[in-house]
Amino acid sequence: ASLIFSPLLLAFPPPDAQPTEAETAVWNQVSAVLEEAHGILAELQSYNGAGQEIREAIQNPGDLALQEKAWNAVCPLVAKLKRFYEFSLRLENALRSLLEALTSPPYAPMQHLEREQALAKQFAEILHFTLSFDELKMTNPAIQNDFSYYRRTISRNRLNNQQLEAENEVNNEMANRMSLFYAEATPMLKTLSNATTKFVSENKTLPIEDTTDCLSTMACVCRVMLETPEYRCRFTNTDTMLFCMRVMVGVIILYDHVHPVGAFAKTSKIDMKGCIKVLKEQPSNSVEGLLNALRYTTRHLNDDSTSKQIRALLQ
Ligand SMILES: *[C@@H]1O[C@H](CO)[C@@H](O)[C@H](O)[C@H]1NC(C)=O
Ligand SMILES: *[C@@H]1O[C@H](CO)[C@@H](O)[C@H](O)[C@H]1NC(C)=O
Repeated sequence: ASLIFSPLLLAFPPPDAQPTEAETAVWNQVSAVLEEAHGILAELQSYNGAGQEIREAIQNPGDLALQEKAWNAVCPLVAKLKRFYEFSLRLENALRSLLEALTSPPYAPMQHLEREQALAKQFAEILHFTLSFDELKMTNPAIQNDFSYYRRTISRNRLNNQQLEAENEVNNEMANRMSLFYAEATPMLKTLSNATTKFVSENKTLPIEDTTDCLSTMACVCRVMLETPEYRCRFTNTDTMLFCMRVMVGVIILYDHVHPVGAFAKTSKIDMKGCIKVLKEQPSNSVEGLLNALRYTTRHLNDDSTSKQIRALLQ
């Protein structure tokens, strides 16, 4: 198999993959979204929350100045959370366009990945962003704390018939949708897996395998890159390794959500044992988080069809 993959392997993730003419339209669309991704991650990384202000306001319910201080601290944060949420919708559209391009007839998934390396790279970058975002979100309890304080304050004021100006920014319907989003342990990944499931179910004429084969092929490329010393030594820095790890886990999770029997079954086109093993061998702080993503955000791990060996590897 590695022979077939060699052109891709040499170039994955292609450092400077330029779009061909056929790729340009989709590439430009996705590129505009990806350009924002760095800023979103940086904002999330520096998101400190208003924990202190909220605590003081709750402990001193009669102190209006403290209520106002907490409110003023929370509002700009909620505006940030809204930006993140809105970005997830743009990311979802970008993913859709990529899936359409990478599965369109008459080419097989492998041919697509070879012909459209620039798009394959963008797909990988979306997954990399997604796993990075969720890792940061998961380790930041302030997000849900801030958002629920915000919602409680709004509804208390609504009871008192006070209209808060902030409601114009995040209306009730938006707040409900944001709540559902941030209630997910891994909101971005969930958005992508929902979108992939929807893509597959809406395109009835497109065999589901075309989409899942695209995902399993990418998982295989990443696994082979991580476990083959000749390729590994091409990794100039740990970022590239981390990139491959995240992309591999991302496509596994999408595959598991979209494929009827999932990634862990014997018939799965993903070598799960190999993927988990190679992941565990990586000298990176992110391994445990990625293993947790496989443990807790896949659908089929606990199915009877999952082998004992795979279960044991993930224990
Ligand atoms: C994903 O879809 C499920 C079921 O339709 C829904 O309940 C959930 O809120 C969605 N999550 C996201 C993040 O879109
Ligand atoms: C998938 O469905 C969408 C809308 O339902 C359509 O625009 C698109 O062309 C379809 N793609 C494929 C590959 O069938």
